[in-house]
Amino acid sequence: MRTISSIKELKAYRQANSVEKTTGFVPTMGALHEGHLSLCQRSMDENDFSIASIFINPTQFDSSVDLESYPSCIEKDLEVLERMGISAVFLPNDQDMYHDNFAYQLQETSFSEKLCGANRPGHFTGVLTVVMKLLNLVWPNRAYFGKKDYQQLELIRGMCAAFFLDVEIVGVETVRDPEGLALSSRNALLNEEGLKMARKLNKMLALRDADDIVSSKLSEEGLLVDYVETHKGRRYGAVRAPGKAGSIRLIDNVTLEASV
Ligand code: PAJ
Repeated sequence: MRTISSIKELKAYRQANSVEKTTGFVPTMGALHEGHLSLCQRSMDENDFSIASIFINPTQFDSSVDLESYPSCIEKDLEVLERMGISAVFLPNDQDMYHDNFAYQLQETSFSEKLCGANRPGHFTGVLTVVMKLLNLVWPNRAYFGKKDYQQLELIRGMCAAFFLDVEIVGVETVRDPEGLALSSRNALLNEEGLKMARKLNKMLALRDADDIVSSKLSEEGLLVDYVETHKGRRYGAVRAPGKAGSIRLIDNVTLEASV
């Protein structure tokens, strides 16, 4: 596995490996778990080369506390990626990615203002800007994103269509723990009680009740509800559960055909 930390090296690597070969790309913020690895595996199954990136993107965090507490375990991540056989991992730094000091930003003005965007102003501008930069640098045939972050996936698809990017965006099913909790790097920050509560999120989003009833049921479980909303047959939810240091924000979504 090639570990690439400079943009110059990445460009050279891409030029050397582009002729008649397909490249898959999996952008991440690290603290890798089975969810991330399922994206990597899918990319490896479908492409000649697979590149993952690990970059904790500062512009998508709306609070410095959240950014500072974001888990990071780069050595372990590299070991896992190497073991699974990924071709290369790109580890850019803040200065290289934001040499313009974030003066140029990519803003979506409709769906990005709903759901997570309403609760986290500027979040999706940070996500779309960094994903555009990464796609331009890595120049993949296919890029892989999880359905766990369905709003993010939809916005990235829309961005690629709006700007005529020649990349196929592949949505990958959410990987869950045996009790249905969507795997997330943030789960490691939950305390025991928070973990128990968090496991209610997926089950309750799938209930046949209306959004406001589901929201009340989640509150009754002790979770702080940011939103429960249905858009185009998919119910999205965001809650805060008790963590080891402060509350932890978790999101999930279900298609309503899956309702019970
Ligand atoms: P991160 O939260 O590290 O997630 C990286 C990718 O893994 C995203 O596409 C996310 O949807 C996917 N993912 C996370 N948990 C998953 C799960 N349980 N099952 C399947 N896929 C899962 O999302 C980001 O990073 C960032 O916003 C990023 C796109 C990298 C831009 O900075």
